[in-house]
Amino acid sequence: MTATHDTADVLVVGSGIAGCSAAFAAAREGADVLLLTKAERPDDASTDWAQGGISTTRGNPEALKADILEASDGTADPDAVDVLVENADAAVEDALLGTLEIEFDGSDDGEFDYTREAAHSERRILHVDAATGTHILRPFLNHVDDHERIEVRQDTAALKLITHEGRVHGVLSDEDSAGHPIFAGATILATGGIGALYGRSTNPADATGDGIAVAVLAGADVADLEYVQFHPTAYDGEDPFLLSEALRGEGAVLRNGDGERFMPDYHPDAELAPRDVVARAVATEREATGEVALDVGPLEFEAEFPNIASTCRDRGIEGDEIPVAPCEHFLCGGIDVDENGRTSLERLYAVGECARTGVHGANRLASTSLLEGLVWGLRAGEDAAETEVEPRVVDTPELRDSDPALPERFAAEKFTRLRRTMDESLGLERDPDEIARTSAVLRRLKGEVDAYVRTRTARDLYELRNACVTALLIARAASENAESRGCHHLVTDDSGIAEPTAED
Ligand code: SIN
Repeated sequence: MTATHDTADVLVVGSGIAGCSAAFAAAREGADVLLLTKAERPDDASTDWAQGGISTTRGNPEALKADILEASDGTADPDAVDVLVENADAAVEDALLGTLEIEFDGSDDGEFDYTREAAHSERRILHVDAATGTHILRPFLNHVDDHERIEVRQDTAALKLITHEGRVHGVLSDEDSAGHPIFAGATILATGGIGALYGRSTNPADATGDGIAVAVLAGADVADLEYVQFHPTAYDGEDPFLLSEALRGEGAVLRNGDGERFMPDYHPDAELAPRDVVARAVATEREATGEVALDVGPLEFEAEFPNIASTCRDRGIEGDEIPVAPCEHFLCGGIDVDENGRTSLERLYAVGECARTGVHGANRLASTSLLEGLVWGLRAGEDAAETEVEPRVVDTPELRDSDPALPERFAAEKFTRLRRTMDESLGLERDPDEIARTSAVLRRLKGEVDAYVRTRTARDLYELRNACVTALLIARAASENAESRGCHHLVTDDSGIAEPTAED
């Protein structure tokens, strides 16, 4: 057994809205919390990049529930959606308004300026400009930093879960090259998404699927991993950035390379159709006419969206028509959890994007990800603290770091191969034969990476290992699902004609 170790009542891994909410709720229940994060800065978390806002119900949970179910093409779990909508407004009131005192737009006038996004039937989204994530996360991080019961450890990654007799007892962190044990009564994974698995993503670069991989390697169940959501409107150029759905919610329209507005031909709700529908339409029109632009002419762009307007200016984008293309944005599936974020492994929780609550089904409704992270983060933190299981020191495996030097550029080169493979066959449209070939390629890649992981603990190598494991799980889930639904859209081999969908 390793002599030096740490203990905590509750260990949280990740520092986005879900991790901060879990830490905050557990500490409020009296638990001593250790929050571990590989992030060094707020913008290492996807939450900081979230633009549009956070949905509320505005007192009508049934209406939000109906929109979530509709956007998911009927695949979201109604019980999970009930948990979300019945707790949404109280969670926002408790943590964001009551504790952090966030001044959402309109606060000064005594009435919130609720915005609307695609597939929402009404204005119910709280926002701060279109930089809502930043305005939530930074005060939240300050709050947990200052909390006497929470210790925040930055720039520290969890390499492996510690398991013993079927229970999770914490993690091995990379504070020691042989793995530094942190024992906890409960461990909450809040590690975010998988953007690094794709060539273009709206996530920060370190979204490598860590939580999903370590949980699965310890035996946890996952679900819905084939549902990778692509945002329809990211800047179509180097270093893509998000052009929030709030722009379309407020009146921006999509035009193809011939200058024609095309969304009314694809869906009765036009630009406000569910995200998967708009993303595929944008891809189709780009292919047919060379490019697609988001026309912000109908808006008071500078006045209504100063943050996005300023990003456009900084990037030298001029005029009302901003070139856009779909871009990986969010994983709807993940580690399977219940209404309190409990996974299939005892004393392991998962919250936020790495978790699959069932709320999103095959396609997520806009501005429900911050809300899901908040609601499940609070519930998991509270549940983990309430059950008061003492941390137990158990035997841990020693990770081998006998050959620490990595061949130069090893991880970067393998990541490039991984992304190319994912882009080619697990993107917006998927060919079942191609998915089968991809699984074989990914298995080989993972085999090469595993050979290195056996003798080294470098963080970038573990991130690559996690990304390969998660990619393989996505490929497996995609190969096992023969039904086109939401974000999992199958096409035939070379005709490009879509397989029948549930709607047909
Ligand atoms: C956006 O602002 O378009 C993103 C909102 C979301 O992903 O929920």
